[in-house]
Order: sequence, then structure tokens, then C-alpha cells
Amino acid sequence: MNKTDSLIYVIFGASGDLTKRKLIPALYALFVQKLLPEKFALMGASRSLLTNGDFRESMKAAIHEFKEIDDTSGIDEFMEKLHYTAVRFDDVSSYLELKQGLEKLRTMSNIGGNTVFYLSTPPSLYGIIPQHLSAVGLHRQDDGFKRLIIEKPFGYDLESAISLKNLLLKDWNEDQIFRIDHYLGKETVQNLLVTRFSNGMFEPLWNRNYIHHVEITSAESIGVEKRGGYFDSSGSLRDMVQNHLLQVTALSAMEPPSSLDSSAIRNEILKVLQSLRPIPREDVGKVAIRGQYLSSTIKGKPIPGYREEEGVAADSVTETYAALKFYIDNWRWGGVPFYIRTGKRLPTRVTEVVIHFKATPHFLFSGDKYRQAWNQLVIRIQPDEGILLKFGMKTPGAGFEVQNVNMDFHYKDLSNQRIPLAYERLIHDAIHGDATLFARTEEVLEAWKFLTPVIEAWKNEQEVPLYGYPAGTWGPQQADDLIEGQDMSWRYPCKNLSDDGIYCEL
Ligand code: BG6
Repeated sequence: MNKTDSLIYVIFGASGDLTKRKLIPALYALFVQKLLPEKFALMGASRSLLTNGDFRESMKAAIHEFKEIDDTSGIDEFMEKLHYTAVRFDDVSSYLELKQGLEKLRTMSNIGGNTVFYLSTPPSLYGIIPQHLSAVGLHRQDDGFKRLIIEKPFGYDLESAISLKNLLLKDWNEDQIFRIDHYLGKETVQNLLVTRFSNGMFEPLWNRNYIHHVEITSAESIGVEKRGGYFDSSGSLRDMVQNHLLQVTALSAMEPPSSLDSSAIRNEILKVLQSLRPIPREDVGKVAIRGQYLSSTIKGKPIPGYREEEGVAADSVTETYAALKFYIDNWRWGGVPFYIRTGKRLPTRVTEVVIHFKATPHFLFSGDKYRQAWNQLVIRIQPDEGILLKFGMKTPGAGFEVQNVNMDFHYKDLSNQRIPLAYERLIHDAIHGDATLFARTEEVLEAWKFLTPVIEAWKNEQEVPLYGYPAGTWGPQQADDLIEGQDMSWRYPCKNLSDDGIYCEL
């Protein structure tokens, strides 16, 4: 990776929520750690008419409010690098003004042509902004690189994703486009690669001979908050499965890459997505369970049902819970079921990958009933990041009773190790041109392709039920029936939710 030593970072949608909550705090954290290019300026751009002063003031408040790093000593120096210009997104003349503004800033700050354009805007602008930028030549790389960073959703279905791809690739090259999937920016998601490929002891067992099934959960205790309008036109499948959960599946299932080169890793991710066994449309009701949360009372507090949330249609059939069973048709995973689930208003917030190992071929000891559940490797992505290994051990005393015990590593036990948040890592990598942790066009399209039968059946077939589940429970009971095998169920990491609502062990 070549380090970038000068850069203008343009944020479209600079007066929006994401800029305040994530982007500016992450850029500031990079700045104080000296991880930004030496010569750096940031240009905020959005519809609002703001002065540089207004913009700086609100960004300074955001850094304090959404503190990503304890060191606040560099805030004033960082503020001097921030500038603002108003743009009319659909008016090409406005981009000419932006271009002139950027040229002035380059001269003033002695910065060359390297530019990153971050689209922190509604997805409806993902086509327009890059088109207008290229119309005024702001995509040309003769004086330095020009990169686009965009956030999901990358389309609404396969067809719209293909249209977006065609629109973007008309003037821009694939290697100029960085598609953020913030799960890939999480340390613990990246650690899947390190756990698997830096240890001699896991990889030999990581296949159909030893693994019974793989379970991936991303549960949230919050509802749709203030995003009802967006979520109601999306749903859990598009919001979480199409991107985050299929990426985590791919990292858990991929073959070892030949190197850490971004295309070596992304080729392996793509191969997994290409190997997902297509779900026949008539099977959707059996292998894809959807649910929607209903009103309930959690710890004495009344919680509204999804249909009562602001911005949500009173007769909405959008899912707030999705669980899928599927297979990866390749030599490593032939016959091993993968289960993924995600939902809002579940009892706790937890994301984890659970590798369930097969039982021994002949069980000598007592306690047979639960032996299948004994060997599990739980990779906790969040919160309480870490790795838990569960295995059977002799209960002290007479006889040979076996009991289930844990070996548990917590990231927080590493002293002096700050875990950078996802945006910090991703912004850093995009600035320095490392595309490893960004989704490539083909990955996005493969994921949409795989989910198309589910999307279509959920939309068109009345007989595929949408189950209700009371807010604060683990989703529709029908999702439990997905898991094959005697005494098998999802892992319920927190049956007895602790008062503070944090992760607790079963
Ligand atoms: C976003 C989804 O991509 O991920 C949200 O749009 C969801 O609906 C969020 O809440 C979850 O992210 P995290 O990092 O809190 O697990």
C-alpha cells in the first residue's frame, strides 16, 4: 500500500447525521494519531447554506459528543483544515463551482490533485453525484487519484444494483470506487482471518469433516429508532443480510488467500458468494423465516410494535427479523448447513459466529444428551469482543461425568490496546488506497442474486408467512425449527438478560 501524503477529502451530505456521528470523529481520531496525510484539507458539501465557521463549530461539538478517541488536544488544529461549500446536487453548474472551490483550496493549502469524495447522502443521489462530478472532469486522475466512497444500500434488488453499477462504471473505474460495508471495518470481523489463518490448530478442522453447522447471529435490542421511513422500504434482509451477514459468512467460509493483497482476499470472498446454493423459490417458506416485532412490555416499559413506529406504514409487511438456512456448494462445505439470523428488538445486542463441531464418533461417558453442543468455537464480534471455546471436561469425583466448560478470551483484557472503530479503519484504508475491506461490484451482485428468490417470494407469495414476535423476545419460534438435529437450537447467548442489558453467557 502506498501512503498518501496529500489529500482533499470531500464529504457530500456534510450537514447530515452520519458526518457528525461517525465520519468527522473518525477523521479526527486518525488526525491525532498522525494517520492522515501530512497535507490534508476537508471540504464539507451539502444543500444547507453554512459558513466555514458554522461548519467548524458544529463539527467541533460532534467530536466532543461522539468522542472516538480520548485525546482532544488536536481539535483546534484539526478545525483549521475544515471548509464548507453549499451544493445543489442536481445542478451541474454547482459542481463547476465546487471544482473551482477545490482548486482554490489546493493552491491555498499546497495540496496536489488527490481527492476522495465521500457520499454520505441518500442513495437516490448515488447516480447523480458521480455523474455530475465526471461531467466537470472531477473523476480524472491525471493530477492525482480521485476516489468515490459510497455506503450501502447498493441497489434495492439485483436489477437496480446492476443499473447502479452501470451508472457508476460509465465514467469511473472499479478501482476508484470504495463500497463501505462497515462490518468489514470491525476489528473482530478482520480477526476471523487471523484466527483462521495464523493458527495451525483451527484450519485443519475447518471443514465438512469436523464441522456440523455454522451459525451467525446479529441481534439488536433497539427498534428502528428514527429510521422508520428508510427501514420500512428496506427490511432486515436488505439492511443486514445482503451485506453484513453475507460478508461475515464469506470470511468464515473462504479458502486461505494466497496473500494479503486486496484482490487475493476479495477473490476468495467472491468464490464463496458464487458457491451459495440457490434457494428454490418453492422452498423459501421452509428455509427463510421472516418476522416483525409486536408491541410488548420490557422491564415494565411499554414498547411500541413495528407498525406503530414513526415513518412505518400501519399495514407494513416489512420484516424486522430474518433467519435463513443455506448451503455452500464446494468441497470444503458440502452438506454443512449455515444458519444466519438478524433482528431488531431482540433481547440483547450481540453479533457472533458459532462454529459447531461434530460429536465424537462414539461417546464413552455420561451426559450423552447434550454432547453435540459441547464443542463450539464462538467468535464474538460485538460487544465484549473475543473468542470462546466450549468443550467437555471431567466433572471431578467418582465416575466419568462430563461437563461443559469455557475457555474465554476477551479483547478488553489486552492492556493498552485501543480497538479502532470501523469507520476509522475504513476511511484510513480508502485514503491510502487499500480496497481489501470494501465490497467489489461482483460481490454485491452475487449477494443480490442469491437473495432474489427470497425477496420475490416474500413480496409476492401470500402463503409465505410473516410471523409476529413480541418486542424483547428472540424472534419467531418457527426460526428454531430451521436448525436440524436432535437437541439443536440457535445459541441463545443471553436467556437471562442482565439488568444493564449487556451480553451475558448462557
Ligand atoms: C446498519 C443497518 O448497516 O447496521 C442498521 O442499516 C443496523 O439497521 C446497523 O442497526 C448495525 O450496525 P452495528 O455496527 O451496530 O452492528
